[in-house]
Amino acid sequence: DKCGYEHFMLKEIHEQPHTISDTFRGRISMDQSNLFLGGITDVLPRLVQARRIIIIACGTSWHAGLVGEYLFEEYARIPVEVEYASEFRYRNPVIYADDVIIAISQSGETADTLAAIKMAKESGALILGVCNVAGSSIARETDAGVYTHAGIEIGVASTKAFTSQVTVLMMMAFLLGKKRNLISQEAYEELIAGLTQIPDKIQEILSDEQYIKGIGETYKDATNALYLGRGNLYPVALEGALKLKEISYIHAEGYPAAEMKHGPIALIDENMPVFIIATKDKSYEKIVSNIQEVKARNGKVIAVVTKGDDVIVKMADHVIEVPECHEALAPLVTIIPLQIISYYIAVLRGCNVDQPRNLAKSVTVE
Ligand code: F6R
Repeated sequence: DKCGYEHFMLKEIHEQPHTISDTFRGRISMDQSNLFLGGITDVLPRLVQARRIIIIACGTSWHAGLVGEYLFEEYARIPVEVEYASEFRYRNPVIYADDVIIAISQSGETADTLAAIKMAKESGALILGVCNVAGSSIARETDAGVYTHAGIEIGVASTKAFTSQVTVLMMMAFLLGKKRNLISQEAYEELIAGLTQIPDKIQEILSDEQYIKGIGETYKDATNALYLGRGNLYPVALEGALKLKEISYIHAEGYPAAEMKHGPIALIDENMPVFIIATKDKSYEKIVSNIQEVKARNGKVIAVVTKGDDVIVKMADHVIEVPECHEALAPLVTIIPLQIISYYIAVLRGCNVDQPRNLAKSVTVE
């Protein structure tokens, strides 16, 4: 049931304040001083001692994994590799018994991810799952795991499953950082409190839907688009580009903002929309110069900025404001306007948003 929404994708975009709450509900202590991940409690000592974390996934779930990489390295100081399941399984990867493998999959049925887990089992490494569908093949093949609890996702383009995957990875990274004595109780509580405020912040962004749709109207006839971000917002750029290409069929690419000058900058002209995720964090000054570089070549800049930003507003063609939040949590809020804009561009182009051509919700063949 679409509950009055025109498409499942729009309904699922709007569900995110609730689905993210469902992901952390019951996993945060009443006084917000601690996190509990019941599904991995028994294996937590092995995770805390991990020599390395290898994340395997496909598509949007792989992008969630890339956000996880930043978080695990920043907060838990564990080296992380994020691998496409299809590549990992056909290499001869080096896996140590004290590695921890985390397979991320909404459906829990993706053939390459499932096969990669089976292959990795021989190494003796601990294998965890971050799945949405309870009792799915990947959930059953893993040693332990954390369900995302985003509810059934019907739109082929993944939205709420992504934000729930990212929420789980955030909780895992903060918990590991705490257990490894790398973050203080105070910092831990600040992260937990910040996470609990995310649903309201997303609700605020959703109330700007008509404004964001208006920006979509301006760019609906684009043939190409670039998405740029830095740090943990680089995976958000990749995910924004994937959302646009898969439902609107506009060619779109995501890049780390600083990579632009190593090639993609050649594509920029007055017809090129460039979506730049430019919230206030430690890379802010650098992203401001990336915006200047695009404007100097007459590209059109659509910037996702922190509310009240008074610098980028003067440089960009359009700004979309998002509420301020802890830098670690910014992927959860910045992806929302990109999902909305992709949705409206696809609708305005007359595309079948919930069932884009050539795509299946769950890729059970390799
Ligand atoms: C993109 C999308 C796909 C899936 C990918 C992995 O919107 O839906 O890229 O993310 O096929 O699927 P799961 O997470 O079910 O393993």
